[in-house]
Amino acid sequence: MRTGQVQLPSKQRNDLHTLRSLAPYLWTYRGRVLLSLLALVAAKVAMVGSPVLLKEVIDALDRSRHAQIALPVLLLVLYGLLRAGVSLFNEIRDSLFARVRHGAMRHISIKTIAHMHRLSLRFHLDRKTGEITRDLERGTRSVSSLLNYLVFSIIPILVEVSLIAIVLLVNYSAWFAVITFATVAVYIAATVLITEWRMKFRVTMNQMDSTASSQAVDGLLNYETVKYFDNEALELQRYSQTLRKWEDAAVKSQTSLSALNVGQGSIIAIGVTLIMLLAAREVVAGSMTLGDLVLVNALMIQMFIPLNFLGVVYSQLKHALSDMDRMFKLLEIQPEITDKPDARPLQIDKAVIEFRDVSFHYNADRPILKNISFKIDAGEKLAVVGASGAGKSTLVRLLFRFYEVNAGQILIDDQDIRDVTQSSLRANIGIVPQDTVLFNESIYYNIAYARPGATGEQVKQAAKTANIHDFIESLPQGYDTLVGERGLKLSGGEKQRVAIARTVLKNPPILVFDEATSSLDSTSEKNILAALKEVASHHTTLVIAHRLSTISDADRILVMERGEIREQGSHQELLALGGHYADMWNLQQQKQKNALS
Ligand SMILES: Nc1ncnc2c1ncn2[C@@H]1O[C@H](COP(=O)(O)OP(=O)(O)OP(=O)(O)O)[C@@H](O)[C@H]1O
Ligand SMILES: [Mg+2]
Repeated sequence: MRTGQVQLPSKQRNDLHTLRSLAPYLWTYRGRVLLSLLALVAAKVAMVGSPVLLKEVIDALDRSRHAQIALPVLLLVLYGLLRAGVSLFNEIRDSLFARVRHGAMRHISIKTIAHMHRLSLRFHLDRKTGEITRDLERGTRSVSSLLNYLVFSIIPILVEVSLIAIVLLVNYSAWFAVITFATVAVYIAATVLITEWRMKFRVTMNQMDSTASSQAVDGLLNYETVKYFDNEALELQRYSQTLRKWEDAAVKSQTSLSALNVGQGSIIAIGVTLIMLLAAREVVAGSMTLGDLVLVNALMIQMFIPLNFLGVVYSQLKHALSDMDRMFKLLEIQPEITDKPDARPLQIDKAVIEFRDVSFHYNADRPILKNISFKIDAGEKLAVVGASGAGKSTLVRLLFRFYEVNAGQILIDDQDIRDVTQSSLRANIGIVPQDTVLFNESIYYNIAYARPGATGEQVKQAAKTANIHDFIESLPQGYDTLVGERGLKLSGGEKQRVAIARTVLKNPPILVFDEATSSLDSTSEKNILAALKEVASHHTTLVIAHRLSTISDADRILVMERGEIREQGSHQELLALGGHYADMWNLQQQKQKNALS
């Protein structure tokens, strides 16, 4: 199977790869990114500058105890300005960067959903919707947090550590810089190592989180089935088992975080103690002033406060990266069905459909269609009948190019459907599917979906043709009635008629009815069949049906059995043949007679 299996070589490359995927989104806002980085550096310069000034103030005051020197007013005012500058520049950075972050989120959300729509039916049937939505949600959120961490934590820390190192190197013995760097290096190494080890808990948490979400969504989507089989307990048990694993992983993640924090705290404590010992010794020896001691201490504390967050930031960063990685992996899955580079729009002239030696399987170990050939001439109505699972709906999915044929060709007006754009292909075919699923919106929305921009009059006309207008008008809310999740507030027959109405509204040259009237009672069916006949005249039509009485007027009938065409001809010809079709016909006639008597 090709879905979800995009493996990238190594974790390291993976993270870089993921980070690089962000670059184009940042590039869009390069001006703002640059300005906010400048604001960031300005804020940090002010931040490191203020203890340096403070040292000057202290030394000035210290000297003034001996000689009579004026109060260092100017220095103190400058000090205040620097402190104000820190928050000013920080806020400028935040404000400038907000657009970048949220803009990137928006672009990525749109891109991923567009990609999901491009992926094939096979992918969507294999995947669990609950899991995908969770992955996408976490993925886009992680984009925002990642940018946040980069601009508000990682880069500031790097800038600050460098500035502090410069101050130390310029002013004092190299030992200060050496100890500082050694502490920071040990600190970062420990953080990275421990965090790497902790990652697996978080990965488990995410997996369990997605699984739980998909189980819950699945259970709720199948609400009725759950009740029919009285399986609430089973559903809850499954859900609770998953959550149990999630809980265990979450607890481990928390306790290991504490271990990390203790480790980091100890390293910082050792570093600061060493530095202060060194500084105190120099003060005693007279090679450093009191101001110097205060400065070194202030710099250390200032540096380790954000470094203390580094543990959290690093792990959050890794989590964000892994969340984002899942999303980008989804983005990397190649759609199974793509337009050829030189694909042209389908040119419909007569709308002749031809299946030429078509063979197809969903999975290689089970052939579904074997060497199917037939032709539907312009304006002709072809019916396909056959046992359940014979492959009738599969013919339709192939015609829509949801899957690629494994052998043979499907032609419309002599153009192979693989050579034309998918959009033009699908725009020219209308279908009333076997199972109609509706959007949880108004009836009006669902009908008008076939042709956005259709007038109210056109929508009503289509509803009239589909014999559902009167029913809709009889509802308290009329066309504004909401149809419920997947359209479940409508009866099967009502849903089918909504589906018919929207196909009528679309009015494409090719029509497909897959058991379009199977949920209707005989009277409604008769009315609709008459209406459909009207609609279908001058259209090339493919009808799939179980009830043979509904298709006896077809120009030609194919009898399918286990992926092969067993018989074909008109109703009369097939009856005269006395084969499978004749048997089915007699059986159904018999049943009807029994039902009447
Ligand atoms: N996505 C899929 N993956 C694997 N097998 C599939 C898939 N979809 C359908 N099948 C199998 O292909 C076979 C043909 O399915 P199809 O839906 O074409 O049957 P059908 O003739 O329309 O039946 P019915 O009259 O019950 O609607 C079935 O046996 C089904 O199990
Ligand atoms: Mg079917």
